[in-house]
Amino acid sequence: MDTPASRITVKRLHPLFVAEVTGIDLTKPVPREDFRVIWDAFNEHQILVFRDQHFDDESQIAFSRQFGELETMIAHPGNDWNPGHISVMTNLGKDGNFLPPDHPAMLHRERNEEWHSDSSFKSVAALASLLAAHIVPPVGGNTDFASARAAYEALPAERKAALENLTALHRMTYRDMDNDNSYNDDDKKRHVVTHPVIRANPVNGRKALYVGAHAQEIVGMPPEEGARLLEELTAFVTQQQFVYSHPWRDGDAVMWDNRCTLHRATTYDKTQYKRKLHRTTIAGKKLDSAFAMMPGA
Ligand SMILES: [Fe+2]
Repeated sequence: MDTPASRITVKRLHPLFVAEVTGIDLTKPVPREDFRVIWDAFNEHQILVFRDQHFDDESQIAFSRQFGELETMIAHPGNDWNPGHISVMTNLGKDGNFLPPDHPAMLHRERNEEWHSDSSFKSVAALASLLAAHIVPPVGGNTDFASARAAYEALPAERKAALENLTALHRMTYRDMDNDNSYNDDDKKRHVVTHPVIRANPVNGRKALYVGAHAQEIVGMPPEEGARLLEELTAFVTQQQFVYSHPWRDGDAVMWDNRCTLHRATTYDKTQYKRKLHRTTIAGKKLDSAFAMMPGA
């Protein structure tokens, strides 16, 4: 499916979602008409794979800011306790050498191998994340994406109705990490929030299941029962037919819609192959309706 506007080509990579975007250099200022094509493709396809981009942090931040305010990561082992707009996903230390598998940053990053939506534990959850490849392994280290929109749409009508008004409690820490001391207690308390289980994209009205590893209880349900339901829904969303696995190439930058997709890192030979990707995260807004219009429109 090609979009006949501007120089940009948008081509679907999966029957249900994900599009490859070529014909634009995102490290330079993006003209308004091209941003319109990208914004529309983002809302339609949920995951955009940009090819042949060579971002540095400054240009990645500048492009990301066109979508809205950027999140600032809290200090944690994965960013060497240095909060900022860029999160580095890597198995390398600052000196460029491999980190040992038991290094706190490596253990922290392993959590990304569970299906999740970025920042769903924040009261204002993330709109989108943009991950840009700097070093990619020759084998493995894919990022998997699941369409929670396609999964929702595949549910029977009565199941959709039963889930419509449920609210989930999201926590920053994972279920089995009550004793996790990678974060301070204030951050743990601040990052326990509620969100609806079904979210609609205000631009097109398309609904999606908003679940994943941070969604841990259902408000008004016994905790174990809510946890079971959320695990079942996450398993439903991440069935093979709703999943696209992205093998990273040099120059790839992938943007995903956290409102309607889940993602996870996959493993690779972390003692043999180097991998380094830089992420920016675009914050959401209190009211999704604020996104009915293109940012800056
Ligand atoms: Fe993530």
